[in-house]
Amino acid sequence: MELSGFYKLKPEDRLKKIKAIAGLTDVEAAALADTGALKIEVADKNVENVIGAVHLPLGIATHFKINGKDALVPMAVEEPSVIAGACRAAKQALPEGFKAEADEPVMIGQIQVVGVPDANAALKNIELNRKEIMKEAAHFMAQHEKYGCGVRGFDAKSLQTERGEMIIVDFHIAVGDAQGANMVNTTLEGVASTIAQLTGGTIRLRIVSNLAVKRKARASAVWKTGTIGQDTVEGVLDAYEFAKADVYRCATHNKGIMNGISAVAVATGNDWRSVEAGAHAYAALGQYHPLTKFYRNENGDLVGSIELPLALATVGPAVNSSPTARIALKIAGVKGSRELAMMMACVGLASNFAALSALSTVGIQQGHMKLHARNIAAYAGAAPEETEKVAETLAKEKNFSIERAKEIINGMRKK
Ligand code: MEV
Repeated sequence: MELSGFYKLKPEDRLKKIKAIAGLTDVEAAALADTGALKIEVADKNVENVIGAVHLPLGIATHFKINGKDALVPMAVEEPSVIAGACRAAKQALPEGFKAEADEPVMIGQIQVVGVPDANAALKNIELNRKEIMKEAAHFMAQHEKYGCGVRGFDAKSLQTERGEMIIVDFHIAVGDAQGANMVNTTLEGVASTIAQLTGGTIRLRIVSNLAVKRKARASAVWKTGTIGQDTVEGVLDAYEFAKADVYRCATHNKGIMNGISAVAVATGNDWRSVEAGAHAYAALGQYHPLTKFYRNENGDLVGSIELPLALATVGPAVNSSPTARIALKIAGVKGSRELAMMMACVGLASNFAALSALSTVGIQQGHMKLHARNIAAYAGAAPEETEKVAETLAKEKNFSIERAKEIINGMRKK
């Protein structure tokens, strides 16, 4: 396949080539070319070899009250029930709603040094020169100081590996409202030669860690027994113990949490891969465990809490180049990355509560399939004005096949 120079083409010319190679129809090519609010020229600057854009539904989770303030939560996700579940859980947590907090946004950035002749001497030398290293690292963060950013400290450690002993220097860098990867990586690359000199080794990786343990967010809520019922309290507690005791369940428990969190990350233009990596790595510290906790308080009500690292941006190129991300942040009404992290922690907890309360009582398929029936209807060819009716019939008949959806559509059109 001859595609050399593909990257030099304009997006429309790339699309023409792909259309020809992949045998796309005019309609299919037009669907890719329709980039919505994201201008194709902007997308083309974002990433390489752009031919179009993909679209996800954007919904708003309602009923969220966070630290006493009502909030609208933008969520971009393709899975039915995620937004509905978050709304329901948030409503059931009223009138108090959620309490949330977040740490100062400090990221960890790592420098790897290999081939160190004497690791103990190297570690000592790093310690002796702590002030100088800090000063030099601070120099690379100087332009960000006005935003409250800066190097907060560092640790050095030695690692025994199959390729010999290595020295790792972990820098702790406050990154303000940025996600921080670029700021951190630039600083690490800047200070690396000093670390090389002090250790006598060779520098390899200089990269941010996605296990952002210094940048955690926490949230909690009380679901009153009077509101959710005794059986739901017992069910959620049973489900939580299951996740604590079984890693197969725990992975799915945490996936349900990330349904909500990643949906907000995507809506607000954040790097959801780093959010996912950080969450699951954090869950794996010690032994892979649920990111939420549930217990019964002295009144017999259900208390849920969550803690996880959340490295998020409310400023910076990724957020700013996406028009919808900027609008989503405006809807969310968050003042900075810390407030966004608090909101996401609340949504994660709400999503988890919604999943556990449904799974442990009526099951999720009934509600989920009702919503999914709309997708089936649309896939079977229902026009937007027909979708609801087709979905309702599928749900009533408990038959969610495409063939049945097509029959219903044909029947409606004959009338
Ligand atoms: C599906 O996307 C998420 C759930 O599987 C989460 C869970 O099992 O807790 C419903």
